[in-house]
Amino acid sequence: MPVMTLCRLPKVLKRRVFPPYRRVISSAALTLELTHNTENFANKPKNEDLQFGVTLSDHMLTIEWDKVKKWSAPKIVPTQDLKISPAASALHYGLQAFEGMKAYKAIPDKSLRLFRPDMNMARLQSSMDRLEMHGTDFDPNELQECIKELVRIDEKWVPYGEGYSLYLRPTIIATHPFLGLAAPDSMLLYVITSPVGPYYRSGFNPVRLTADTEFIRAWPGGTGNVKIGGNYGPTMKAAAEANANGYNQILWLFGDNDVITEVGAMNVFFFLENKSGQKELVTPPLGNGDILPGVTRDSILELTRSWGEFDVNERYPTMPEIRDAANEGRLIEAFGAGTAAVVSPISCIRYQGFDINVHATGDLTQRVWDNITAIQYGKIDGPEGWSVEI
Ligand SMILES: Cc1ncc(COP(=O)(O)O)c(C=O)c1O
Repeated sequence: MPVMTLCRLPKVLKRRVFPPYRRVISSAALTLELTHNTENFANKPKNEDLQFGVTLSDHMLTIEWDKVKKWSAPKIVPTQDLKISPAASALHYGLQAFEGMKAYKAIPDKSLRLFRPDMNMARLQSSMDRLEMHGTDFDPNELQECIKELVRIDEKWVPYGEGYSLYLRPTIIATHPFLGLAAPDSMLLYVITSPVGPYYRSGFNPVRLTADTEFIRAWPGGTGNVKIGGNYGPTMKAAAEANANGYNQILWLFGDNDVITEVGAMNVFFFLENKSGQKELVTPPLGNGDILPGVTRDSILELTRSWGEFDVNERYPTMPEIRDAANEGRLIEAFGAGTAAVVSPISCIRYQGFDINVHATGDLTQRVWDNITAIQYGKIDGPEGWSVEI
């Protein structure tokens, strides 16, 4: 609405229809403050020595939200420490949410790409909403545009080569300096980025799991369907115990019948043959508050359904079902799915004192990995809107 028109409105209407401070995230308002420091990049580890999440690139995106002023103009600034009140409610009540996504340099032409970023934007909004963090009414495309600009500016930080990418970590924290538990009056949305290498440096490294009946990651009506820090801290103890017993990750269960929900910080898939020989790919369904709507999960469902070669079902498998299928030779393969690894083959599941061995790496796991990475790195065209050029 042009300012001239606004000025001509009667005062009362102006306040009601156009709250004077109401602002949305606008990529057109983005300001840049670029660093002159060249040391950070000069000290970056060689690509082959990159470790996940250790090295931060030169710039970050910040956008503040305030109950009265709403979203401020987005800024790209040199990556720097934050200054927040020790009373900020993110630090006390876990009022924070985050995303994990990647920018890729296409193998054929080095163009910069994101993979289904609209899904990450929508999930961030849903995580904020679950925590009653207001300000979810921003246009996800505008935030996406700001993130694209951040990647363009730090283009040299996007490593080139299959498996390499710039990991993007959009994060929102409640900065409200208030020790009461309440919806925050102020928040900071920021995006930091970190160059990462291939999850598997030489072939797949299948994971050994324990199906945990003691610790529960998520439950119906809980927060397992959103990406908030509060879901991850409580998994540390279970993971440490699994590691101490020689297992890499937890297969998360819920309920009396040991319903399978997720694996580690990934969605889980089982490829089974039923008693009449029909093949079925199974993953737990969304909608009950216990399963994160993974971008990789959704992509695998769409891709495998498009092949039309076997049944693809969203339903809860149980541990007794998986154990029986394995005993009867009907468990073909199993894998975790997430942005970090794309797919993680599962070679063993410890359940009720016994190891269930699974063939890894299976053909389907490999095929899913080949297809999704080929789309991410621009080697083949995926469905419309999957590989988004920056
Ligand atoms: C708990 C959990 N489940 C599943 C996933 C996989 O989601 P995505 O495919 O969007 O990375 C992740 C990773 O973000 C996760 O943390």
